Amino acid sequence: MTTRRFPEGFEWGMGTAAYQIEGGVHEGGRGPSIWDTFSHTPGAITRGDTGDVACDHYHRLDRDLDLLAELAMPAYRFSVAWPRVMPDGRTLNQDGLDFYARLVDGLLDRGIEPMLTLYHWDLPQALEDVGGWRSRETVDRFADYATLVGKELGDRVGTLTTLNEPWCTAYLGHATGEHAPGLRDPALAYPVAHHLNLAHGRAAAALRSVVPASARLSVTLNLQHVVAASDEQADRDAAEHARVLSNDVFLGPMLRGRYDDAVFEETARLTDWSFVRDGDEAECCVPLDFLGVNYYSPGRVSATPNDDPWPGSRTAFRVRMPELPQTVMAWPVQPSALTELLTDVHREYRVPLVVTENGIAGHDVVDAEHRVRDGHRIDYLRDHLGAVLDAVDAGADVRGYVAWTFLDNFEWAWGYEMRFGLVHVDFDTLVRTPKDSAHWLSDVIARNRLLL
Ligand code: NOJ
Repeated sequence: MTTRRFPEGFEWGMGTAAYQIEGGVHEGGRGPSIWDTFSHTPGAITRGDTGDVACDHYHRLDRDLDLLAELAMPAYRFSVAWPRVMPDGRTLNQDGLDFYARLVDGLLDRGIEPMLTLYHWDLPQALEDVGGWRSRETVDRFADYATLVGKELGDRVGTLTTLNEPWCTAYLGHATGEHAPGLRDPALAYPVAHHLNLAHGRAAAALRSVVPASARLSVTLNLQHVVAASDEQADRDAAEHARVLSNDVFLGPMLRGRYDDAVFEETARLTDWSFVRDGDEAECCVPLDFLGVNYYSPGRVSATPNDDPWPGSRTAFRVRMPELPQTVMAWPVQPSALTELLTDVHREYRVPLVVTENGIAGHDVVDAEHRVRDGHRIDYLRDHLGAVLDAVDAGADVRGYVAWTFLDNFEWAWGYEMRFGLVHVDFDTLVRTPKDSAHWLSDVIARNRLLL
């Protein structure tokens, strides 16, 4: 057996998002979010599932925090539901804020480091009703919300993240309609992406002014690892187009304070970017303590209209990767792509990185011995942790790894069918059962090394 060590001080945790686990959607003064509306829209979600109850985390907070402590998690990444804290997107609801204060204090009491994300997709419906992320107004509302959370909780939360995966909000929410608010107009993805970039910058600046200097600020992106389906020039151009649309649209403004010309060129058929005002690009860029990278699967792109169009594109298409193992969601598995992604981002941007999500879905079941034997997840995690170490060995400044996800939960358009949890949830009884993978990961964390 060989062992591979993680760097000293490497950070470890598990993550969740509010709408995916909380339930209690009508309680404590919470207002509706776009995901309440969308999940109740017939046909939007597999089997008509909704987040109304989810894992009922809202009522089981203390026991869930005990479970994190039993698993000896050093950190816990969670999101605040904006409509719980501000039901109309503008006005404070003290009950909602108190829930997160209890969550943060409960983590600290158990010696677990809170990592707070402000926006994991649950926009207050009241703001959607006046234009949502298509409207520049929402940028100011988000900065106000960030200021409030920063003032109230920033003294106790060491890590604050503005947005989770704005790519999904822009493209899946507005171009393909797979996510809330369910719009299907590729041209909308760009004003939305820009307003998210600006919201990130304004919120990060606002947070800086209200949280202690020791607090770390970040944003989490689902950067796409994109390769061309062949060496043909057309396929290489399509891959570059997809990469620019997926990654550069966010990385440029957030990390360099400007959109590359390629962004304007590659999207010229869809938008003239006239919604970008003087000074906006610089405002999107606030020095960050690290960039969060979510990674699950590689992408292969061709110029031939054979498979699905790449979200937001009319000239690049996703190609299936049948030679690679596939998850139950038909996502190809390729750990080396994570190594390449991390080393590429490190080379280009020189910013510290944390893998803020990585994991695999399964149809996991509790057996007669009350065990969940999810060896497939252990294999996936082991291989991807190895890929993180390969990136570290290659010089990438990767500071931590947060597994997705603590509990089986509401997997957005897939509902409860896809179980990403390290802890199994029986959605009839809401009983939690740590899977083999949870124990395995706890052990890796305790040793700070991987046994191979
Ligand atoms: C990324 C999202 O942030 C998370 O909410 C989702 O459950 C996972 N990907 C898996 O699809």
